[in-house]
Amino acid sequence: MSDAPLPPIGMLAELTHRCPLQCVYCSNPLELLKADKELSTDAWLALFEEAADLGVLQIHLSGGEPTLRPDLEQFVSCLARRGVYTNLITAGVGIAEGRIERLCDAGLDHVQLSIQGANASTTEKIGNNRGAHEKKLETARRVVELGLPLTINAPIHRHNIEEVPAFIDLALSLGAQRLEIANVQYAGWALLNRNTLMPDREAVERQVEIVEEAQSRLQGILAIDFVAPDYFAVYPKPCMGGWARDAFMVTPDGTVLPCHAAATIPTLHFERFGERSLTDIWLNSLAFNAFRGDDWMLEPCKSCDRREIDWGGCRCQAMAIAGDAAATDPACVKSPLHNRMAILIGEANSLPSSNADDFRYRRIGRA
Ligand code: SF4
Ligand code: FES
Repeated sequence: MSDAPLPPIGMLAELTHRCPLQCVYCSNPLELLKADKELSTDAWLALFEEAADLGVLQIHLSGGEPTLRPDLEQFVSCLARRGVYTNLITAGVGIAEGRIERLCDAGLDHVQLSIQGANASTTEKIGNNRGAHEKKLETARRVVELGLPLTINAPIHRHNIEEVPAFIDLALSLGAQRLEIANVQYAGWALLNRNTLMPDREAVERQVEIVEEAQSRLQGILAIDFVAPDYFAVYPKPCMGGWARDAFMVTPDGTVLPCHAAATIPTLHFERFGERSLTDIWLNSLAFNAFRGDDWMLEPCKSCDRREIDWGGCRCQAMAIAGDAAATDPACVKSPLHNRMAILIGEANSLPSSNADDFRYRRIGRA
C-alpha cells in the first residue's frame, strides 16, 4: 500500500490515568502517569481542534476516569462546536451531583459505562472498590433519565464469565441501548494478570451460545456486541481496525499512538502532540507507517486472502507472544506459533485454586 493514508475517523483520548478503581484487566500501561504529567486544558483543546481539522468524526473521552478532569465540559463543548461526536467512557464512580447534566448540556452525545460484575461482590472484587456497583447503577439511571444513549461495557474473564446472562438482564433493566460483552484483551494490566483472568474453553463455548441466543431474542430491544476472546480464536481480530488505518489514541501526556499497547513495541518511537502536529504524526511518523496497510507483512499473512480483513491481527499481541511485532498474530491458526495460545490457556487453567484471586491491582507507581 503506497497511497497516502485516509484521514482517521476515530480517536481515543486518555485524559488521565487517575481512577478510583483498580481493575485487574485495565488496558492502560503498567507505567501509569501521575497528574503532573497530564496535558493542560489548553493543550487538550488545541489537540481536539487539530483532530477535527484532520477529519476525526468521533472522540472517545476515556482514562483512567475522565470525569476526574474538571475541564471535561470544556472539551465536550469544543468538540460539539466542531461537530465531533463525543463518547464518554466512564467507570461511573464518584461523579459529582449535576456533572452528567452539565456534560449533557455541553453537548455530550453518548455514555459508555463499564461494569465489572453483574452483582456487587464481583464488581467490588475486580475493581477493588467497595460500594462501586451501586454507584455505577446510579450513574446509569442518571444517564438514561437525561435521554443520553447508554452502552454497558462488560469486560469478561474467568471471574465473571458465568454472569453473562445476568449482565444481559442488568443492561435491559437499566434501559441501555447497547451491551458490549467484551472478552478481556491481554495487554497492559490484563497481561500481568493473565493467569488469574483466563477462562476455560467450556466456559467460553457456553458464553458464545448464550450471547448468540440473546442477540437473536433481543433484536430491536438491546444491541449486543461480542468481542471474542483472542486466545480461543481461529482467526485474529483486526485490532484497531488495522494499524493506523482509521483511528489512533493519545495518552495523558499527549503521546500519540496507533493503539493502547503500542508503546510495548521497543523498536518504535512515538511522538507527543506539541513536538509534532497530529497531522504530521498521522501521515509521516515512522511508527504509524511501520505496520500500515500490508506492505510490511511476512508469510503467511503476505499471501493470505484475509490480509485486508484482519490486517494480520494485533501487532502488540505478536510482540508479547512471538517476540516480534511483525510476526503473524499467534491468535491466527495459520501462525506457526498458534499452539502457544493453547499452552498459555493450559498454564492459566492449571493454576492452583489457592492462587485464583491472586490479583495484581492497577495502581499508579506500582509497575
Ligand atoms: Fe490474518 Fe495473517 Fe492469519 Fe491471514 S495469516 S488470517 S492475514 S493473521
Ligand atoms: Fe496494539 Fe493490537 S493492541 S495492535
